[in-house]
Amino acid sequence: MKIAIGCDHGGFELKPYVVEYLISRGIEVMDLGTNSSESVDYPDYGRAVGESVASGKADLGIVICGTGIGISLAANKVRGIRAAVVSDTFSAKMARAHNNANVLAFGARVVGKGLALELISAWLDAEFAGGRHQRRVDKIMEIEN
Ligand code: RB5
Repeated sequence: MKIAIGCDHGGFELKPYVVEYLISRGIEVMDLGTNSSESVDYPDYGRAVGESVASGKADLGIVICGTGIGISLAANKVRGIRAAVVSDTFSAKMARAHNNANVLAFGARVVGKGLALELISAWLDAEFAGGRHQRRVDKIMEIEN
């Protein structure tokens, strides 16, 4: 599995821990930056991750900004992306199980390193339930048309 990851300056300090965790799980990581504390615009990184997932270059994506909100909004503008902002493990699990979220977002100013890794674990370990949830996800994606 390959995961694309992107963040702005708000998520820059947390990103290396996430990359290390993903690699420890045997996941290939496509790191799309940013790679310094210099102020950048989160839409650029949300879009880059979203486009990587939508094009199939990555299987899933993770985006991090200060709150997780702005960068998820940007990722969600890419056709085919379902980015979910989470800050608790139940929501992270359900983002996959019910919403089949292909991008996970969280805020580095909201969650700490430990919780961030638990959010990722809950999301990755969950399985999309399909059935009535597939119908609902299909209805979400129809909005793009
Ligand atoms: C950057 O200061 C901050 O606005 C950004 O990281 C994010 O929280 C936006 O949603």
